Amino acid sequence: MKPFCFADGQIIPTESATIHPMDLGLIRGYGIFDFFRTVNYKALFLDHYLDRFIASAKKTYLSLDYSRDELKGIIQELIDKNDLKEGGIRMVLSGGMSENHFSPGKGKLYIFAESLIFPSQQKYEQGVKLLSLEYVRPIAEIKTTNYALAVWHSAQWKQQGAEDVIYHLNGYISESSRSNFFIVKDGVISTPDRHILMGITRKHILELAENVEVRPITMQEALAADEAFITSTTKVLLPVTQIDDLKIGNGKTGPVSLDLLERFKKMEKELCG
Ligand code: PDD
Repeated sequence: MKPFCFADGQIIPTESATIHPMDLGLIRGYGIFDFFRTVNYKALFLDHYLDRFIASAKKTYLSLDYSRDELKGIIQELIDKNDLKEGGIRMVLSGGMSENHFSPGKGKLYIFAESLIFPSQQKYEQGVKLLSLEYVRPIAEIKTTNYALAVWHSAQWKQQGAEDVIYHLNGYISESSRSNFFIVKDGVISTPDRHILMGITRKHILELAENVEVRPITMQEALAADEAFITSTTKVLLPVTQIDDLKIGNGKTGPVSLDLLERFKKMEKELCG
């Protein structure tokens, strides 16, 4: 079945959606987005994602012409029309057309329905490797569409057998390219508190975990941790067993990470059936 999206104020076949080549999204890389999952035809944590999307639009000075309830209505229509039992919804607000080709314009809203593939079972069982990269995402708390560095750097990941990167600057870790980072040491679960996107998965993992600390975390600490993992909408919780050439803990997936993943899945089932 060919997918349908929302563009130019209506639901149309996704292949018919267009954008002007001079949109700031293209010529300056200026725009915002959000991405959430449907589970059993229900949008998981929808209000949290809408909160973040609406906040991102405000912080980037891009006007959103639809109310929260209107957005919910469109999303439901897309889920139905695409028969999206388990999948992803991507909301994009482009920077729009700008008279001087620089100042934020009138953004164009798109909502896409997508199929979604989780990482392989082997990755959840064995953990993944991250490559360290000195960087911090600009305006990290806003979910901008600017992933240029990560897209460019990703050529290295394949070469070096890595799943993704871990950003660090001045010794402190922030996040991975599309996920948040956690460590476990002596039963305490810690995650960075700043220069990150406030992930919706991170938020729920923090609520599910008992012994948590939200604070700056150094690379040294991460390398000396018992366990580490990343969280995101598209991965939920993926164990990290190596950074560059160094193993974390015993180099194997740890019990705290796997227990949290199970708890998350249980919560998901309770919410969406
Ligand atoms: N990425 N940090 C960054 C930079 C992200 O882009 C994301 C999400 C996260 C995790 O946030 P959440 O748990 O709300 O998905 C953290 C999405 C999934 C992506 O770009 O595909």
